Order: sequence, then C-alpha cells, then structure tokens
Amino acid sequence: MNTKALYIRNASQLVTLKGTSDAPVTGKAMNELHIIENGSLWIEEGVIVTVGTDEEVRKKHQSQLESVEVIDATNRLVTPGLIDPHTHLVHAGTREGEFNMRLNGSTYMEIMNAGGGIHATTRATKEATEAELYDQSYERLNRFALNGVTTVEAKSGYGLNWETECKQLKVAKKLHEDHTLDVVSTFMGAHAVPAEYKQNPDQFVELVIKEMIPKVAELGLAEFNDVFCEKGVFDPEQSKRILEAGKKHGLTPKIHADEIEPYEGAELAAEIGAISADHLLKASDKGIKMMADKGVIATLLPGTAFFLMAESANGRKMVDANVPVALSTDCNPGSSPTVSSQLIMNLGCLKMGMTPAEVLVATTINAAHAINRGKTIGSLEEGKQADIVIFDVPNYMRLQYQYGVNHVERVLKKGETIVYGGRLT
Ligand code: NIG
Ligand code: FE
Repeated sequence: MNTKALYIRNASQLVTLKGTSDAPVTGKAMNELHIIENGSLWIEEGVIVTVGTDEEVRKKHQSQLESVEVIDATNRLVTPGLIDPHTHLVHAGTREGEFNMRLNGSTYMEIMNAGGGIHATTRATKEATEAELYDQSYERLNRFALNGVTTVEAKSGYGLNWETECKQLKVAKKLHEDHTLDVVSTFMGAHAVPAEYKQNPDQFVELVIKEMIPKVAELGLAEFNDVFCEKGVFDPEQSKRILEAGKKHGLTPKIHADEIEPYEGAELAAEIGAISADHLLKASDKGIKMMADKGVIATLLPGTAFFLMAESANGRKMVDANVPVALSTDCNPGSSPTVSSQLIMNLGCLKMGMTPAEVLVATTINAAHAINRGKTIGSLEEGKQADIVIFDVPNYMRLQYQYGVNHVERVLKKGETIVYGGRLT
C-alpha cells in the first residue's frame, strides 16, 4: 500500500459517475457520466479523498503538495477501473478446434451435445493440477489488467463434480488473495449435465442442491450461484430449484438466461429476485419488463453473440425499458475467449445500439452493482477504492470511436500503478 498521497491531476475528462453507489443506473440517467473537465483526484492509502476540478483539489490540499506523488493526466480520460461481472476465468486449455468446426458448419450446441464444448473444458479442467489451473488463470488476470480491468467475477462450472468445482473455487480464492486484481466468486455447478447423468438429469440437480451448494456455502467459497438455463441443459423448473437452494444457503442468484433459445429465463430471474440475468439474446418483452420492475441487472455479453455469430441482445431496448444494463466479456474458452472489456464496449455500441456513455456506465458502476460491489468500486467518489484507468484519449467518445484498440495508458488498483505503457509494473 502506498503511504504517500497521490494526486492525479488535470484530466481533460474525469468520469466520476457521482451519486451512483446505492443503486444501478437506468434509462436516460445512463447518459449522465458526471464528468469534471480539468478534473483531479487526491488519493490516500488506496482510497479517494477528494474529487474536483484541479483548482479545487489543489486548493484543498495546498499544505500537502510538497510531499505528494503526482500523475499528470493532461489530455487524458480518467475513469473508474473497468469491472467484468461475468467470466469463466478459471479453466484449463483452449478450444480453437471447435471454433474451426463452427466455421465449417457445426453449431455450438451440436458440439456440446456430442461431448465437446463445456464437456471438453471440463475434461481439461479435471486433468489440470491446481497449480496449472492457477498459473493459466493468473496469466488471464494479467491480460485483463492490461486491458483496464480491475475487478473480475469468476465462475466455477468446469468440474461438474465436487472435487473439481471445489478446485476451481479454491483457485479463484487464491487468485483473489495473490493477484493485484480482485476476484469475486460464483458457484456454477449447474453449467452442464455430465454425460453419466444424461438419462437422469434430475439426479444431478439433486447432487448440486443437496451436496455441492451446502458445501460451497459452508466453506465460504462463493457469493453467487449461477445456472445455465437453456433448452437441453437445465430447464426453468430445475434452474429455479437450484437457485432457490442457493438462496437458502446465502448464495445470491445469477442466471445464464435466454442465450440460445427463448426459455423464460428473464421471467425466472425476476421471479426469484436474481441480482442479474446474463446473455438475454432471446429474452421476451414480458421478461424484460419483469426485470425492469424488479431491478434485475441485465448483464449483456455482446462478445459472445459476436463470436457465436448470433444476433446480439437488444441492449438499446433494455436501456429504454429501464432495465439496468451491465456489460461483460463472458471470458471463456468456448463462446468468448477474450479479455478485452474495451472491445465489449465497442460491440455494445456497434451491435446493440448503446451510446458511448451507456456502455461506460455498463462496464463500471452497473457492473459493480451486478456483483454487489456498488458501494466500494465502479465510480470515482470520495471514500471509494482508488481503482482507476487513465486512457490515452482526450474524451470518452474516442474510446468507442477508435474501436478495437487498447487505449489504456495506466491502471491503478487501490491507488497503486499496476499497468503503465502497455506493461505490468
Ligand atoms: O456463458 N453458456 C454457457 N456457458 C458459457 C460458455 C462456456 C463454454 O463454452 O465453455 C457462456 O457462454
Ligand atoms: Fe457465461
């Protein structure tokens, strides 16, 4: 921890997102970034102490200016650290062969039902030692950091048995402790039905409910509980049972909903009070309205739609319907092998019709709320953790306009520089 105060000064645009810590941002308010021009931040012990124009900050801390460390952000955009609220971070191996198969005509679900897809990564993850899994995931976290991401949610779900699910969650916990980035864990034992339960999937559902969820809760290995609610995977009734069981054990529900087929996943998310429903490519109008009424966050994953060559979720419609929208990479080896939250924001604009301001809200404060971290991260306000990105662009629109480029110049985590000039420090 840096004991010296830090003064980040004179950003051409300082995106504060002031006043958003209590609840996710919805509707027209998603276009209000609360920008300070010539903005500065004063940071002490990893926490933001003062936010204001350079003149204001300078005046308030006049007596401390002699001993402070200064970062000049002239002509730069300063934003909260980017947050990724939906990843499958901890997994072994890659699946470029399946990518090639899809480009030769197979579909994602065909590959999975033939024993590939999630099952292929499950085999690789089972075989990997804890150390191998840790090293591969650590490296992925490094690449997230280089792209401006400071907090990552991580799901299990490539074990589908207790031993390997537990191994994944332990690795996520250790990564959170060891890596500069924060890792927030989600249990996703119900990610696929293992081949040996194909004739009797309810037996596997019972195993998740009666054995895995209680152990995850008892060992404090996750905060959230997720399920792949999809035709041919877990149906809405099974998903509901799994998510209700998690709730009983203190795990907050999340759901992979309406990704490939419409399946009333959005409706289920609203009904059970999920913190977020994710994917939603095929969500119904009724489900969208129910989510808006209940304040369920739509975590949209336009990189997944892009990579599966499917039509993206209708982010525009969801924002207009007052659903709080967050964005995420869905980083995983099958449907979205990327760590670029900047590319995801680009796709949010270009494939979902969201504005440059809306995608930034969706990747910072709304993403924080989607993992129950709205009070500590996601905006640049007094008292919040100093997780910050300095982009080498003069304004926030440029980030989306010059798409496909890593614009990060510097990343700070808890007030410490962890990335500078394209390298980890
Ligand atoms: O969010 N849809 C289910 N799970 C992941 C994909 C996992 C995989 O293909 O390995 C997703 O897209
Ligand atoms: Fe996912």
